[in-house]
Amino acid sequence: MAESRKLFIRSYGCQMNVYDSERMEELLAGEGYEPTDSPDDADMILLNTCHIREKAAEKVYSELGRFKGLKAEKPGLKIGVAGCVAQAEGEEIVRRQPLVDLVVGPQAYHRLPAMLARLDAGERALDTDFPEEDKFDHLPARPARPQPGRGRGPTAFVTVQEGCDKFCAFCVVPYTRGAEVSRPARRILAEARALVARGVVEITLLGQNVNAYNDEGTSLAGLIRELARIDGLARIRFTTSHPRDMGDDLIAALGEEPKLMPYLHLPVQSGSDRILKRMNRGHTAEEYLALIARIRAARPDILLSGDFIVGFPEETDADFRDTMALIEAVGYGQAYSFRYSPRPGTPAAERAQVDPEAASARLAELQALLTRQQRAAQEAMVGREVSVLFEKPGRLEGQMVGKSEYLHAVHVSDCDLAPGALRRVRITQSGPNSLGGVLVG
Ligand code: SAH
Ligand code: SF4
Ligand code: F3S
Repeated sequence: MAESRKLFIRSYGCQMNVYDSERMEELLAGEGYEPTDSPDDADMILLNTCHIREKAAEKVYSELGRFKGLKAEKPGLKIGVAGCVAQAEGEEIVRRQPLVDLVVGPQAYHRLPAMLARLDAGERALDTDFPEEDKFDHLPARPARPQPGRGRGPTAFVTVQEGCDKFCAFCVVPYTRGAEVSRPARRILAEARALVARGVVEITLLGQNVNAYNDEGTSLAGLIRELARIDGLARIRFTTSHPRDMGDDLIAALGEEPKLMPYLHLPVQSGSDRILKRMNRGHTAEEYLALIARIRAARPDILLSGDFIVGFPEETDADFRDTMALIEAVGYGQAYSFRYSPRPGTPAAERAQVDPEAASARLAELQALLTRQQRAAQEAMVGREVSVLFEKPGRLEGQMVGKSEYLHAVHVSDCDLAPGALRRVRITQSGPNSLGGVLVG
């Protein structure tokens, strides 16, 4: 056993990176690395990066620059880049920032132990393969308890599907994560049972196209129904879904399966058919609205969330009005919106770009509407009873905070419950980003 060394990992981007970081930490624990929350006392720094927009990718280089001083003080310090920037840029990273010792892509991180051995021998290590073998088969089983100070308490992520075959014209994910692959259901069930045994009560199933999940005929709905049979697992969520993969069985499960939470993130990106076509989304605005109607028929109280891109190449003001009209028609409880960012290697990056000022003005208008809708959805909770899974103490003395089934943060005062408690709460107030309530009974 090697002497104990300290590992600092920082995650950027999506929830799948958060999950991958946890798995890397667990893998490297077997190599004698203890996690630390501070880069200053680390022997190894890993940045688990995101390439989705230019800003996200560039942040990596400014962050790396900040470690220069640390590396000068501690020449033994190893610095690694993992995740989607690693996959997209590979060796280019080392050319731009020579202090980087290691570059590992999202499908190759199970090979980290061998890479570390190369570092110990004084070499650099780079691996951005999409290997034949499944990395999950080569990772240690989830530990019986999280490492000290780690884990997400009563909630956990589990990746069930990875990669994307959709090739939206703006998006790097099919290139950074590779083709759509589903993990075997029996392995997911085993991982879920291990997490529940250590006190997890809510699991969020992750996938770039999670509802495209298919393990030899077992769909996402089938997987959810299997997971729902695990005693002690109280809540199941999944993200991110694609409108084209929203099967009837999944819609039915949203209506029928009590452990499946009434929250659905279903990005549409634009409300203009012309732009949807140019984005290669594979559906029209009307088809999306018809889908939403079917989902609401199955689960009337569902809270809908979405992603929007404004300023996509050739987007006119009329296209933008169509997006605003779609948002009005749906009524989102939560949403994320972005100005289009041209990404190297994607088809849309080559097209005529929208004037940045016009795009920013559209984004501001769209975000104002989404904020109004989000507030309205929160206000509508006041007076209602919800179930809250308490996660951690709040900022105020004696306060606890948790999430409702609709994923609203809920604060309760004078509350001595432990994290993991699931209770009925009556909502009494709505603040800018969270709700307040009182325990019922
Ligand atoms: N697989 C998911 C989302 C993946 S990326 C889906 O299909 O919806 C998360 C979000 O980032 C996307 O939904 C999109 O809104 C946004 N995004 C992706 N590429 C972008 C780009 N080049 N510029 C701006 N936003 C982008
Ligand atoms: Fe990107 Fe489109 Fe795939 Fe989502 S569906 S990951 S937006 S290419
Ligand atoms: Fe970013 Fe890669 Fe996730 S590009 S959003 S970290 S899949």
